Amino acid sequence: MAMERTAIIAGNWKMNLGPKEASSFALEILPSLGQITAKDPHIMSILCPPAISLPAIKEVLDSLPVRHVELGAQNMYFEEKGAFTGEIAPGMVKELCNFVILGHSERRTIFGETNELVNKKVLAAFKHALVPIVCVGENREQYENGETQNLIKDQIRQSLANLTTEQAAQVVIAYEPIWAIGSGQASDAHAAGNVIHYIRHQYHEMYGQKAADAVRILYGGSVNAENIAEFIAHPDIDGALVGGVSIKHDFIELLRNASKFNA
Ligand code: PGA
Repeated sequence: MAMERTAIIAGNWKMNLGPKEASSFALEILPSLGQITAKDPHIMSILCPPAISLPAIKEVLDSLPVRHVELGAQNMYFEEKGAFTGEIAPGMVKELCNFVILGHSERRTIFGETNELVNKKVLAAFKHALVPIVCVGENREQYENGETQNLIKDQIRQSLANLTTEQAAQVVIAYEPIWAIGSGQASDAHAAGNVIHYIRHQYHEMYGQKAADAVRILYGGSVNAENIAEFIAHPDIDGALVGGVSIKHDFIELLRNASKFNA
C-alpha cells in the first residue's frame, strides 16, 4: 500500500466468541497484536467482535499497559434511539469503540440491507464520530458475467453518497468479493488491486483528489497469514478485512506479516 496511508488489518469475528470466550481469546492475542502495532506506526489493527462481547474485550484492552489495538462493531442502526427492538444505536457503539463495519455482504444478502440503508448508517456513524468500514463486492454470478465494475460503482456511489470531503477522506472501504469470503479461495492480489484502483477512481470523481488519496481501501475474502504478503505489498491495497483467521492465533502471524511486507 502507499505509505502515506496507514494500513489496516481488521478482524471480523462475525457471530463467534461470546463475552467469556472473547475475553480469554483477547487475553491471549492482544499483547502480541499490541506489540506489533506499537513497533510499526504504518499499520493499525481493529478487532470487531459481536457487539455483546465488546465490553469484555475493552476491559482486557484497558488493562494492558499500552493500548495499540482498536475496536469496532460489526453493524448498527442509523436511528438515535427508540422502538427498534434488537438494534444498536450509533451513540451506544461510540461508548465502546471508534469503528463500525457497515454493509457487510452477509448483512446485504441475509438481512436484505440496501445501499440506501447502508448510506443512512454511514451518515449516522459520522454524526457520532465513528469511522465506517464500508463493504462492497460482487457475487460469483456477477463476477462470471463481467458485472463487477457496474455493481461496485453503484455500491460505492449509493452507499457513500452525501459525505463532506473531510468525511469522505476518513472512510475505510473493504472490497470483498462474495465468492472469496469463507471459501478458502482468495482473489489474486492483482485482480483485487484492479478493482480497488477502480473504486479509488470512482471516489475521485465523487469527492476529488484529496479524499481519493486518503481513503483506505482494504481487500477481504479468505485472507490468511501467508497470502496477506501479496495483498499488503500491492500499492493500491491498504490492508485487509479478515474473517475466519481473525478468531485464531494465526491472526498474530497475519498481522506480523502485514507489518513486514507493507510496501
Ligand atoms: P473470510 O471473511 O476471511 O473468512 O473469508 C472475510 C469477511 O467476511 O469479512
